[in-house]
This record gives sequence, structure tokens and C-alpha cells, in this order.
Amino acid sequence: MPSSEFYLSSDDAWSQLVSVAEADRDARILDQFAEDPDRISRLSVEAAGLFIDLSKQSWTSRGIAAALNLARAQKVEAARDAMFAGEAINSTERRAVLHPALRASKGLRFNAMGEPVSEGVEAQRASLKSFVDDVREGRLCGTTGKPFRAVVHIGIGGSDLGPRVVWEGLRPRLPEFLVRFVANIDPADRQEALAGLDPETTLVIIVSKTFTTLETLANAKAVREWLEAGLPSGADLTPHIIGVTADPKKAEAFGCSRTFSFADWVGGRFSLWSPVSLSCAIGLGWDVFEGLLQGAEAMDRHFVEAPLERNAPVLMALAQIYNVDGLGRTARSVAPYAYVLRRLPAYLQQLEMESNGKRVTRDGQPIDRMTCPVIFGEVGSNGQHAFFQQLHQGPEVVPTEFIVVRQTHDDGPEQQLWANALAQSRALMIGKSSFEAWQEMVASGLSEEEASRLAPHKTFPGNRPSTSVVVDRVTPQALGALLALYEHKTFVEGVIWDINSFDQWGVELGKTMTRSVMSAASGGDEILDPSTVALLGRLAPST
Ligand code: F6P
Repeated sequence: MPSSEFYLSSDDAWSQLVSVAEADRDARILDQFAEDPDRISRLSVEAAGLFIDLSKQSWTSRGIAAALNLARAQKVEAARDAMFAGEAINSTERRAVLHPALRASKGLRFNAMGEPVSEGVEAQRASLKSFVDDVREGRLCGTTGKPFRAVVHIGIGGSDLGPRVVWEGLRPRLPEFLVRFVANIDPADRQEALAGLDPETTLVIIVSKTFTTLETLANAKAVREWLEAGLPSGADLTPHIIGVTADPKKAEAFGCSRTFSFADWVGGRFSLWSPVSLSCAIGLGWDVFEGLLQGAEAMDRHFVEAPLERNAPVLMALAQIYNVDGLGRTARSVAPYAYVLRRLPAYLQQLEMESNGKRVTRDGQPIDRMTCPVIFGEVGSNGQHAFFQQLHQGPEVVPTEFIVVRQTHDDGPEQQLWANALAQSRALMIGKSSFEAWQEMVASGLSEEEASRLAPHKTFPGNRPSTSVVVDRVTPQALGALLALYEHKTFVEGVIWDINSFDQWGVELGKTMTRSVMSAASGGDEILDPSTVALLGRLAPST
């Protein structure tokens, strides 16, 4: 039975959340376990093989209820169903958003704005698989007849970060195929990626949804020159150059021998399930890539089927909104405790901040509350020796997400690593009073006077919230589930904030201005502000 609060209006649900959070601001997280004996079972969820514990979040029982009421008032379930039904939920670009169709089991049927897409997806998956197998088994060779041994993946943003997380997360320690990534326009990135590679055995995959991105095209041209210089004079370069894009004509015009396309209903930062991950599929093998898709599909099923109060992406989104809008916490740190997940914070920065770093509603009205927090992070335990000082003792409360991996390598569980993660989340919650700190010092032989002097420095306020996401091993299935978990969490936040999470107009102005600065640097007559003129004078003195 829906509660009577099911019928709260959006405004009332927001007011309720904000007032409950404010009233319970000083509630101690630790006390909540005694107040609500069901807290652990209510706030820990098994989803697609992951275990997610949200019991160390700041919310009290009524805070959780208010957050769930907000999800209902904002019609999260209807919005989710609209996404899976292929409605044009990307309202500013009038597009469907259907990345789940890319990882759906054979036979399932999706429509994008009424058009059936699944047969096309399945056909493309089959042709990708045969391409991958042909490259891996040496049936497709370079221009001099040698089999490929390395792949250079050129792309940036969504055409880079997802595949990079996948490759780093799953790659064999001694890969049969090298996969190198080039994203930055700084030639140093490209030089490092190409170092030691033989053009005769290197396949270059240019990944760009638009095939217009400055960095990617500059790198693609430079790598094409590298191929030209390293292959016999007059040789056909095209067998070495593959395109992945939503605009195949542009890729063909560039000189790609083969192009794998994807539809406009696949957003760049949601595209790793598409041919955008071709490099990974070659480097890891098709079965591994399929495992990744299966894990994501399992998370899709959980997202679609679980009720809101047991739904992992929904609960994670609500915990963030409670922190951001209820308690004014505008940053979040992410600490994956597995070396192979070290790129996850960078991936999440794009996924969440490019999706939800916005300040107008879907119909263009100003949003009068905070939206996406600043996201930062570092692999555990390295982060503990860097920014964790501020997490424990800084004046601002920064909620933290721990990705706790039980077994990070083949030799068995890595207890030291996961014990660190558990200890950190516990320490953030429990803290240490100044009296405890004082007592410890006196017990260890310090004078009372010296202990009093040091006690403020050794006090931990505690009551700092965290979420733990437990992963047994970083298998293809687990990684797929983890990445899909974050995709859906980001989607739910967008729905609750009433944001279109699928456009990114905010990156455009800088791109245009780069063109005018470059023009000014080469003597053009752009009118620039005094600061930019001064900087230009320092960087390009001849202008
Ligand atoms: O500049 C941001 C962005 O548009 C991202 O949204 C996108 O993932 C990235 O650039 C790369 O774009 P493309 O795949 O079209 O090269």
C-alpha cells in the first residue's frame, strides 16, 4: 500500500526533505543503529552481485522516508520506464536515451522513439564479434601482412573514460594485445602511447561520436602521419585505421577502412557498451566484453524490478541528494580500494558532473537548490595519505564512497586493503572525542599539560557519512554492474533535480572561445578581455 505521503506534491516533498534533514542535522549516525534495529537490513542491498551498504549515511529513519517520498513525488519510476521505453527523454536534443538496449540479452526488444532498434544492435554485435575474432586470431592483418599486436585508441571524454576504466579494470597483467589510449592534445600523451609500438602491427581506432572533436582529430592526423612514416613508402594505410562514430561519413572521409557506427540515442558518456569499446574487446577478447554487458544488464534488471526502497541506484541517488540539498554538502569523494579501479573517479567525474552539473530544469526554469556535487577521488589506500586528512578533520563534511574489493588479484583476498576501507568508513563515522584523545596521550606517558595542548589536534568530530559498495572480484560482470549502477544513480538524480542529464551544452562555450584565442594567437583581430590579452602576450609574444 502506498503511504499517504505518496501523494505529496513535488514542492511539499522537497520541503519535507529539507526540513527533516535540518531538524536531524546533529543526529549521530552511530545512534541510528540503536534507534532503528532494522537499519542495516533496510539500508543494505544486494544488486547484480554487488553489496551496497548505505547504513553509514547521515539520514535518520524519517530522513529516509522523506527521501523516498521525494523519489515518488518526482515520479522516478515513471521516468525510468520512459527511458526504457525509448521516449525522447533527452528533451533539449529530442532524442531517446537507450544505452540499456546495447547490453540487452538476445531476443529482448527495445524501441527508440517508436523505432525498433534491437535487431540492428544484435546484428552489429555479431559483426563486431567477428571483427574482434579476426583481429585476435590474425585473419585481419596490417598492410604488410603481419598480424596486429597493439591497438591505439584515440578519443576523449566519453570516447575515452569508459573504455579506459574497462581496460584498466580487466586487462591481463601480461596482455597478448597491447591497448594504449590517447586523449590529450598534448603530443606527450600521444608520444607515450606510441612508444615502442611497431606501425606494421598496430591498429588505430579513432573513437568520436561527432567525429569533429578537436583533440581527437588532431591526434588522429598525427597518428596517421606516424603510420605513414613507419610503413613502407606508398603502402595502403587504411587497413590500420578504424573509425567508431555516430557520423560514419566523416570517418570514411578521414580514411578509415572500416567504420562501426552507433546511434544518437547513445550518449557519449553512456557509450562504453557500444563499439566505442572495440579496443577493449580486441584487447580482452569477446567473451570478456560480453561478460561486461551481462553484468550491466543484470543491474538494469535490478533497477527496473526492485521497489524504490530496495533499489540500489535509487537509494544511492537519494543519499547524495540528502547530503547535497538537505545538508548542504557540495562535494563527494570516491575511493576505490583496488588498484585496477584507479580510473573510476575520473570516469565518474564525467558521468555525474557532465550529466547533472546544471542549473536549469528540463523546461528551462532556474533551479533554486544545489545539484551535482564536486566529485573527486583517488585509489585506496593512496588517498588516505593525501586528502583523507580533510575528510576526517576539515571543517566541511565530505561524504565518501568506498568501493571495497574483496579479492583484488589472483593470490586470494587482500585483507589489508579492504580492512583499510572498512576502518576508514568506521573512523569517519565514530571519530574520537578530545577527552579520548587526551586520555590516550596521558596513558602513553605524556604530561597532562602536553596532552591538553595536543588534544584539539588529535580530535576527530566523526559523524561523517559514507557508502560502501562491496565487490567480490573485479570480474567483467562485476565491473559492468558497477558502471551501470552509477549510470542509473546519475539518471535518478537528474530526474529528482528535474535536469536533462543527457545534454552537455556547458562544454560548448569554451570550445568556441578556443577557436577565437587560437585565431588571436595567429594574428587575428579578435577582441579579447584585458586579462586574456595579457596572458596571450606572455604565451605568444609575437602577437
Ligand atoms: O566536450 C565534451 C564532449 O562533448 C563529451 O560529451 C564527449 O564525450 C566528448 O566531448 C567527446 O566527444 P566525441 O565523442 O564526439 O569526440
